[in-house]
Amino acid sequence: MNQATLHQLKVFEAAARHGSFTRAAEELFLTQPTVSMQIKQLTKSVGLPLFEQVGKRLYLTEAGRELFATCRQIFETIAQFEMKVADLKGLKQGQLRLAVITTAKYFIPRLLGPFCQLYPGIDISLQVTNHEGIIERMISNQDDLYIMSQVPEHLDVNCEPFLENPLVVLAPLNHPLAKEKNIPISQLSNEPFIMREPGSGTRRAVQKLFDEHGVNVKVKLELGSNEAIKQAIAGGLGISVLSRHTLIPDAGDLSILDVEYFPIKRTWYMVHPNGKQLSIVARTYHDYLLEAAKQAVVWEREKE
Ligand code: PGA
Repeated sequence: MNQATLHQLKVFEAAARHGSFTRAAEELFLTQPTVSMQIKQLTKSVGLPLFEQVGKRLYLTEAGRELFATCRQIFETIAQFEMKVADLKGLKQGQLRLAVITTAKYFIPRLLGPFCQLYPGIDISLQVTNHEGIIERMISNQDDLYIMSQVPEHLDVNCEPFLENPLVVLAPLNHPLAKEKNIPISQLSNEPFIMREPGSGTRRAVQKLFDEHGVNVKVKLELGSNEAIKQAIAGGLGISVLSRHTLIPDAGDLSILDVEYFPIKRTWYMVHPNGKQLSIVARTYHDYLLEAAKQAVVWEREKE
């Protein structure tokens, strides 16, 4: 590997991530023959093929996969070093990679605005996915910090609760139960129900409560998006259970039903794998979010 250059590794990393030389070339503003040439030279240094082509698709060989993991570590170490240098210069700059569950997308982007104004040198990438998606990203070490509601038990992680995330029963404004108090949970089995997709943490929490109380809801529709579910409820297709935060900034044409055992109490956690060293930028965001969450609790109390 003595002959390999950092530039070759960068080209390889992009090609491996995209599974395509053309897309790597686009990302790096290079021509496709340059990408091919760099990878050819790198392959020669490694002494084993890095890619194999099956049909039209490009796959990593075993050596390619090992090199891809190594590249990630190398670039992460370099990024950490750059952040340390920037910190020594008195600047906070670098990249922050966040992955948040779908319900947190109503809250986290609003907080990013003031954060970016405070630290203009920090670039952010924000991925929004469901519970299962977050776990996959965590296992492959793709982000700095994760925001989720249910801490994975089988992974060694560090987690900090920072805000409540109550799940509530939502119905259209004019629903016959909208004005009733303390509705028995069993009554939900008479309503057409809209459910999140398998792999969703919301779905898991809802199903657990229904199982505990022997409630068998009629799932009329399964949807993979909180927004789509809100639209379907407003359109009269049924009722559902979602995080109350999905109603930010306001409930619009939906109402929260007062059903026994609701809201389901959940909490948002900021999570990262134990042993992962948080970058200066990630630590800055971590401290900022804890502070902002305290403020949010004060606003909520004031609203009540
Ligand atoms: P999800 O996230 O339903 O999008 O997975 C919410 C949660 O886990 O609370």
